[in-house]
Amino acid sequence: MAGMREKRDMSAFAAESIAEIRAKVGGKKVLCALSGGVDSSVCALLVHKAVGQQLTSIFVDTGLMRKGEGDEVERVFKEQYGMNFIRVNAEERFLGKLAGVTDPEQKRKIIGEEFIRVFEEEAKKIGAVDFLVQGTIYPDIIESGTDKNKLIKSHHNVGGLPDVIEFEEILEPVRLLYKDEVREVGRSMGMPGFLVDRQPFPGPGLAVRVIGEITKGKLDILRETDYIFRDEVAKAGLAGEIWQYFTVLTGLRSVGVKNGARAYGYVIALRAVTSEDAMTADWFEIPYPVLRGISERISGEVAEVTRVVYDVSGKPPSTIEWE
Ligand code: XMP
Repeated sequence: MAGMREKRDMSAFAAESIAEIRAKVGGKKVLCALSGGVDSSVCALLVHKAVGQQLTSIFVDTGLMRKGEGDEVERVFKEQYGMNFIRVNAEERFLGKLAGVTDPEQKRKIIGEEFIRVFEEEAKKIGAVDFLVQGTIYPDIIESGTDKNKLIKSHHNVGGLPDVIEFEEILEPVRLLYKDEVREVGRSMGMPGFLVDRQPFPGPGLAVRVIGEITKGKLDILRETDYIFRDEVAKAGLAGEIWQYFTVLTGLRSVGVKNGARAYGYVIALRAVTSEDAMTADWFEIPYPVLRGISERISGEVAEVTRVVYDVSGKPPSTIEWE
C-alpha cells in the first residue's frame, strides 16, 4: 500500500501540525490517553511540543503489558520529554476483575470497561479539559465507515472515552496518516526506536495471550518467555521482517523432565506472522537454528515451562492472537 501513495514529507508535517495545534489550543487544557502504542505516543509528543504543560497524559498500567514496558514508557515521556505524565498502577484492579474469567470476549469487555473507569476517575482529579487527544489514523476512519468487516473479535482501543470525559473538542493530529507515516513523524521528532517501531499490540494486552484464567503468576511466565522470544528475534536480525511475534501461554500442561526429575509444566506456543494490515496473515518461517535457540532458552530459563511449540497457522482460518 505504501508504494502506491504519494510520499509526503513527514518532518514538514510534524512542524505544521505542531503550529496548528498551538494555534488551536491557545492557552487551553488538553488530555491524552497514552497507551505507549505508536499512534498515541506520536500524538502525545506532537501536542506536547505544541503546548507543553497544558497537556496532561494519562497512562493506565493494566498489569497486562509486556516485560518492562510500563517503566520504559514512563521513562521516555516523564523523564526524557519532561511531560506532564500520570501513570496509574491499576494492575490489582484489572486482575481482580479478571479473576476466574476464561471467555475471551468477556475478558475484552471487562478490560475495556475497567480502562474507561480508571481513566475517568483519574481525569476527574484534573477537572474539565478543553481538548481530548485521540490517536485515530486514516485506516481507522476508513474501516469504521464500512460494514465489510464482520465482528470477529471486539477490538477496544480508547473508543469509549469521549462518553465519560468532559471536553469540548477532539484533537486528532494524525487522522490523515497511514501507520508508516505516523512512525515517520515519530522518527522525525527523534522518538526512540522501541516506541516508533513497536509491533501492533492488542488493547487487552497479554490477557488474550494467557489462554483461560489469568493469574499474576501466569502473566509473569508469559512475560519472561515473550521477552526471550523478542530478544532472540532481535539478535537474529529478524525483527524488521515480522509483523508480529509473541508467545502464548496455552492452557495446556505437559509432562517433561527438569533437573533429572519429572516436571508437569506449561506448554508455550510461539507465534510469528507476516501481514499487510492484520486482516490476513501468514506464519513466518523462522530459520530452524533460531527456533532451536529460542526453544532451548525458554525451557532452560523459565522453570515452569516443559514444552515449546511453533504455531504454523495462517489467517484465515486462525486469527493472529489465540483468543
Ligand atoms: P486477530 O487476532 O483478530 O488480530 O487476527 C488482528 C490484529 O488486531 C490485534 N488485536 C487487537 N487489538 N484490541 C486491539 O486493539 C483487541 O481486542 C485486539 N485483538 C487483536 C492483533 O494483535 C492483531 O494485530
